[in-house]
Amino acid sequence: MCGIVGYIGPRDATPVILAGLKRLEYRGYDSAGLAIIEDGRIKIRRDVGKLSQLESLVEESPVSGNIGIGHTRWATHGEPSARNAHPHLGMTGDIVLVHNGIVENYMELREELSAEGAVFNSETDSEVIVHLVERYLSTNGNLVDAARNALSHLRGAHGIVMISSKEPDKIVAARIGNAGGVVVGMGEGEMHIASDMPAILEHTRKIVFLESQQIAVVTRQGLDILALDGRTIDYQVSSVSWDPVSAEKGEFKHFMEKEIHEQVRSLTETISGRIDFRNGHSIRLPELNLTQKFAQDIRKIFITACGTAAHAGMVGKVLIEHIARIPVEVDIASEFRYRDPIVDENTVLLAVSQSGETADTLAAMEEGQRKGATLWSIVNVIGSQAMRISDGYISMQSGPEIGVASTKAYTAPLVDLYMLAILLGDLRGTLDRKSRQKLVDDLRLLPDLAGRCLDREAEVERLARELIHVNHCLYLGRGINMPTAYEGALKLKEISYIHAEGYPAGEMKHGPIALIDREMPVVVIAPRDPWYEKMFSQIEQAKARGGVVIAVATDGDQTIADIADHVLWVPHTPWLLSPVTTVIPLQMLAYHIAAQRGLDVDQPRNLAKSVTVE
Ligand code: F6R
Repeated sequence: MCGIVGYIGPRDATPVILAGLKRLEYRGYDSAGLAIIEDGRIKIRRDVGKLSQLESLVEESPVSGNIGIGHTRWATHGEPSARNAHPHLGMTGDIVLVHNGIVENYMELREELSAEGAVFNSETDSEVIVHLVERYLSTNGNLVDAARNALSHLRGAHGIVMISSKEPDKIVAARIGNAGGVVVGMGEGEMHIASDMPAILEHTRKIVFLESQQIAVVTRQGLDILALDGRTIDYQVSSVSWDPVSAEKGEFKHFMEKEIHEQVRSLTETISGRIDFRNGHSIRLPELNLTQKFAQDIRKIFITACGTAAHAGMVGKVLIEHIARIPVEVDIASEFRYRDPIVDENTVLLAVSQSGETADTLAAMEEGQRKGATLWSIVNVIGSQAMRISDGYISMQSGPEIGVASTKAYTAPLVDLYMLAILLGDLRGTLDRKSRQKLVDDLRLLPDLAGRCLDREAEVERLARELIHVNHCLYLGRGINMPTAYEGALKLKEISYIHAEGYPAGEMKHGPIALIDREMPVVVIAPRDPWYEKMFSQIEQAKARGGVVIAVATDGDQTIADIADHVLWVPHTPWLLSPVTTVIPLQMLAYHIAAQRGLDVDQPRNLAKSVTVE
C-alpha cells in the first residue's frame, strides 16, 4: 500500500528518495512521485506506473535539492493517473504533501474549500489536506500550526508528510490513527522519514516511531515531536537491527521463491532461544509478560487477523484448545471490530500480523482493549504499531518478507502459536512434564522436515506445468489442516489469478461437490493426522464424480498413491505441526503456476503488502 519517503540533509534528496521508494516497491502501488525544493521552489515529478517510469522522468527532467518527499500510491479515491499521483501541490505553489490513508469526510471538505475558492487538480481525497493547510497558512503563516489546524478537520486515519518552500529547513509529518506508520531515521547531520523502516535502514538504524495523534518536526539537526495541541512530547530513539541485504533476491527469480526457501532458517530462528533445555524443555516467551496467575485466569482467547494471518490463527485455535484447554475463537479482524464481541478482563485478544500495521487488525485490537481485554500480538515487523500497543508480544523472527504473498510469515506464527499453547498448558497444568518434553522434541525436528519438503520442488514444478491452464481449483482439508486448504487456495488465487476455493472437506457434500468434474482439480490435504481416514473418504467421493485429485500425503502412503491422480509428498510430521509441512508444497505449487504463467509474482495486481486502509 502507499509508501512515503522524505529526506533533509546535505545530500541531493532526489536519489535518496528514489532509492527509498524502491525499497518500498514490494508494498504494491500504481503510481509514484516526488517533490524537491530546488532553488527555493517546489518541483514535482510524478507519473502512473512503476518506479522506473518516475526514474526516467527524473532523468529526462532532473531535479535536485537538499530537501524532498516522495510517495508510491495505491489508488483509493480516483484512478491511477499522473494527476492523482502524489505529491499534491497547493494553489500558492509553496506547500506540497504526500498522504497515506483515507480522508473519510473529504466530500464535505472539498465542497467547503471549493466554496472558499480552492481549485482542485485531482480526484483524490488527499488534495483537500493541502488546501486546508493553505487556508491556515494564509492567516498565521507558520507551517506547523497550519498543519495542526488542518489535521483537526480530518476524519479517518492518516500518515501525512509535507514541506514548504517558505520554510525549507523542515519536514512536517503527522500520524493520526492507523494508516501505516511514520518513522523518523536520525542520521549524522541529516534526517530521514518514511512510512516503513526498510526505506531508510541503509542510512541509519536510529529510529523514532511516531504514535497516533503526534506531529514530527524534522530539521537537519534533529527532531521535535508535538501533540496535536502543540505540547512538546518526549520520545525514545530505538536502535533497530536489520540487514538490508536480506531484502535482495539473490539467486532467486522472485522474492516469494526466496522466502519459501528461507523457511528452514526462519523456523530455526523462531525456535532458537525459546526452549529452556536446563529447565525441563520449558518454553520461554519473555516478551509476552505472562504470569502463572494470569495464565490461570484466562477464560477465553480471541485470535484476530486478516487473510493468511487469520489462517495461522485457525491452526492456533486447534493447538491452544488441544494443548492448553482454553476456548479460542478466531475472528476476521474486519468483522470483530464491528460485531460487539463479548470481552472482559479475563479475555485475551491475540492479533497475528506480519506487518503489524494492518488497519483492520489494529482496529480490532483497539476494540478489544477498549472492552478490557489483554492484548497480545504475534508480529514480524519489530516496532510496528501492533507490537507497540500490545501488553505482550511474540516476534516472528522471519526477517523481512517482501513478496506480497505471505509464506515464511505464515509458517513462523504456526510455531509461535504451538509454543504459546505449550507455555499456557504448562502454566495452567494441562500438560505434564513428559508430554511437554515430547511436544518440544517434536518441534526441534521441524526445520529439517521443512527442508525435506523444499527438496521436492522439482516434482511440484512438474505438476505446476500440468495445471497452468486450469480455471478453477478446489482445496479440501479437515481439522488442523482445514486452514491449510484455505491457505493453499488463497496462495493460488492471489498470485496466479486462478479461481480457487478452500473448503472444510466434510462440507463438500453440502454443495461444492456439484462443481466437481474433469476441469476442476481437487487438492486434498491428507497427511497422517487424526482426520486421515475421513479425508480418505472425501477423496473417494471426488474420484467417484470424475474429479482430478491432487493429494498432499505422507511419504510411503500407498493407499493414497493408488487412488489420487497426483501426490505431493511430505515427510511424516507430528500432527500438531503438520500444517507447517503440508502448506509448503502448496506454496511452491502456487508459485510455480504463477511464474510459469509469466505473472508478476511478487506484486500481484490490486494487492498490497500491508493493508493500511479499512
Ligand atoms: C496473503 C497475505 C494477506 C495478509 C493480510 C494480513 O498472502 O499476505 O492475506 O496475510 O493482508 O496482513 P498482516 O499479516 O500484515 O496483518
